[in-house]
Amino acid sequence: MAIYPATKAFLEEAAQKLQDGALVAFPTETVYGLGADARSDHAVAKIFAAKGRPRFNPLISHIASVEAAEDLVEMDERAHLLAEKFWPGPLTLVLPRRKNTALSLLTTSGLDSAAIRIPSHPVALALLRLAAIPIAAPSANPSMRVSPTLAAHVDSGLGDRVDMILDGGPCDVGVESTVVSLLEDQAAILRPGGLSKEELESVIGPLRLAFKADAEGPRSPGQSFLHYAPSLPVRMNAETPLQGEVFLGFGAKDGFLNLSPSGDVTEAAAHLFAMLRALDRPDFSGIAVAPIPSYGLGLAINDRLERAACSRGGHDVRL
Ligand code: TXA
Ligand code: MG
Repeated sequence: MAIYPATKAFLEEAAQKLQDGALVAFPTETVYGLGADARSDHAVAKIFAAKGRPRFNPLISHIASVEAAEDLVEMDERAHLLAEKFWPGPLTLVLPRRKNTALSLLTTSGLDSAAIRIPSHPVALALLRLAAIPIAAPSANPSMRVSPTLAAHVDSGLGDRVDMILDGGPCDVGVESTVVSLLEDQAAILRPGGLSKEELESVIGPLRLAFKADAEGPRSPGQSFLHYAPSLPVRMNAETPLQGEVFLGFGAKDGFLNLSPSGDVTEAAAHLFAMLRALDRPDFSGIAVAPIPSYGLGLAINDRLERAACSRGGHDVRL
């Protein structure tokens, strides 16, 4: 994939691509991000496919202004204080997701919270303003690899799995943003990063450190068992529904809904959360899900389904 200089014309092209659901890698002050329209399950599913991420970790949504943030999440006084002091900059805030927010369920992994930040890199800001949509963006590297701080790193790791790579030179900060949860009375650092604890504490007082192995309380979903589960029991690897169950199909095994009639696991991933929610209704006794192959995003789908099945007492017919 060719690397494009961040000229006005290429920024406009990149903004258009993002609006059209494509993947655009762009520089932030922390690391290069792999961006997609945070409102679209389908666009966001492409991020997981391109990175080869085995799981649907919730992603950070990038926006250009506090006003745009307030459309997505509920900002309390602490959030406003931190935003005023540190945005744009390497700080991600985890806040309650607004009901009816535009964010796709895949962007937030079906959680009731969402992670948001305003990056300070001029190219990132210009792109966000032009696109005028929230952009979900994890680091632009294949899963389990080091984060990219140069456009060339993105190219060597992801190559033509990205529709466009914008070059903004080397990233200033070089480590990911600090993730702070404001979901509880005491703010907590879920991921240490480009903004120090001391700087944060100078504004909102003592923070709990929630990223160590022995930390108590909620952590980032990537490290914990926090996950989306429907209120109905979920049964995996089902060939047919039992009485009362609704069937969620895949490929030729058709159901009330079908994750992907053509049997495409990336498409199925894009539909998973929305379809589970649509089927999570009291007129059914459970959700039976057709077998999903474990390659590509199928691994992630099965991971989420396993968690959903375990947490609500559903069971796998093969056990
Ligand atoms: O510097 C950065 O933050 C880069 C650049 C591109 O902005 N992005 C980045 O995104 O590192 P990602 O997706 O790799 O990291 C997201 C982090 C993960 O640790 C994830 O668990 C946490 O944010 N996170 C996202 N949503 C969350 C939520 N609702 N609750 C708790 N943690 C959340
Ligand atoms: Mg990363």
